[in-house]
Amino acid sequence: MIDSTPLIAIDHVTKRYPGVVALDDVSFDILSGELHAICGENGAGKSTLMKILSGVVAEHEGEIRIRGQRASFRGTRDAEAVGVAIIHQELNLVEDLSVAANIFLGRELRGPLGLLKDREMETRAGDLLRSLECEVRPDARAGSLRVGDQQLVEIAKALSIEADILIMDEPTSALTETEVARLYRVITRLRERGVTILYISHKMDEIFRLADRITVLRDGRWVRTLGKDQTTAREVTHLMVGREIEQTHFDEPRRPGEVVLAVEKLSLAWPGHARAWRLHEVSFELRRGEVLGIAGLMGAGRTELLECLFGASGLLPTGSIRLDGRRVRFEHPREALQAGLALVTEDRKRLGLFAQMDVGENVTVCSLGKAATCGLIGRGREDAIAAGSVKRLGVKTAGLRTAITSLSGGNQQKTIIGRWLLTEPKVLLLDDPTRGVDVGAKAELYRLIDQLCRQQLGVIVTSSELPELLTLCDRILVLCEGRVTGEFDRSQATEQKIMEAATMREVANAIA
Ligand SMILES: Nc1ncnc2c1ncn2[C@@H]1O[C@H](COP(=O)(O)OP(=O)(O)OP(=O)(O)O)[C@@H](O)[C@H]1O
Ligand SMILES: [Mg+2]
Repeated sequence: MIDSTPLIAIDHVTKRYPGVVALDDVSFDILSGELHAICGENGAGKSTLMKILSGVVAEHEGEIRIRGQRASFRGTRDAEAVGVAIIHQELNLVEDLSVAANIFLGRELRGPLGLLKDREMETRAGDLLRSLECEVRPDARAGSLRVGDQQLVEIAKALSIEADILIMDEPTSALTETEVARLYRVITRLRERGVTILYISHKMDEIFRLADRITVLRDGRWVRTLGKDQTTAREVTHLMVGREIEQTHFDEPRRPGEVVLAVEKLSLAWPGHARAWRLHEVSFELRRGEVLGIAGLMGAGRTELLECLFGASGLLPTGSIRLDGRRVRFEHPREALQAGLALVTEDRKRLGLFAQMDVGENVTVCSLGKAATCGLIGRGREDAIAAGSVKRLGVKTAGLRTAITSLSGGNQQKTIIGRWLLTEPKVLLLDDPTRGVDVGAKAELYRLIDQLCRQQLGVIVTSSELPELLTLCDRILVLCEGRVTGEFDRSQATEQKIMEAATMREVANAIA
């Protein structure tokens, strides 16, 4: 169904921000009906280009033509009018509105008196969500959904305007394997309808599975557009980073020390929910210098477990948590932080970033912020520390005084990891830390986590990518519907075994 006439022509597009050239004279074509993947490191300009194509960013140099017509979008509404929709990397739902209201935002269905047709919107939203195999209720508050479900709502929203050009900016970054498989089925259906898809991803296997053609951007410049069959993952990675990336292996075994964190029968109630428990009698130990992985599908309780440990679960859990042998009971993250815990959250927009602060402040806010305002540490010293962290993690930013919100997604994530490392924790909790992080930076992060472990830090990490857990972890605990359904040593763990344990619903229900 791919047509050789360009549907979209990107012609000498340049986008400048103060101190950065986000896109530098980029030109290439998108063909009608193709799935065109856009690759590049964090900060390469992928999202910026997609924002221009979808009318989010209006000012730029150069020209975009769609079906031969010059497109000068002043907003997303203009782009939607010619059939272009975007699903953003950083989710964009209005948290206080219902799922249905979000899907029809700005295009609400109204009756003759101008009254909102809530019922009809909910019915239609329900149909759309079902077509995505999504179980979320249309009247649920958007803010109450986890990242994965929010993403599906955004897809439903794009479908509702019947876009024939759909831009997906890292759509699978927060999804588990089953949800990814579901998204692939949706994509196949869209393509059968002739929808052209622009697809950003850092996952090579995904790109090679889905794409017809691949465009590589580097430092804001167009590097190459290749047919999938004419290239390899290795070549694409090489074009992205300009050098070879080594596979990460940790051959030298780690030597975990004494138990630093002991969790016994930790349970978190789920009032009003049929399952009654978000977590049920979870027990495990973590040693110093050990990386413990938490695997499980979306909704299995991975995030809830980390939030309980960090005093961020809202409701207090029951059961016992011992840190260095001492019983602890954190009612607020502040207490957990003081006791030596740190948590990097999966949803950086909601829980991690201080949007009004600059990059430097975001790095030092939890370790030096207070000392600095009391005059104990000067701004210069604080900046030196922030600069060290930015350099160590390879954050791409014009400077420390740059607004954190202007960094690319992956670079925001690196900034936050740097922040928590500065608190010198005993136990580091990482909730899907490499979500949206590019291949090169991922490898760097793995090495960094390994190094920290060798200095006796205890690490608990969740990930929706099993290969990541298999690379990083000494042990993997599997959760299914809030219960531990498997525990594997590094030497025994395989994707197959973990998936089996993660989908042990019947068994878990039988125990209940
Ligand atoms: N609103 C903005 N103000 C200032 N600079 C910006 C703004 N938006 C993007 N930039 C800069 O433009 C460059 C490209 O950013 P972009 O978000 O397009 O990267 P990306 O390729 O999508 O990266 P990632 O893989 O991390 O999502 C970055 O250096 C970023 O800091
Ligand atoms: Mg991006």
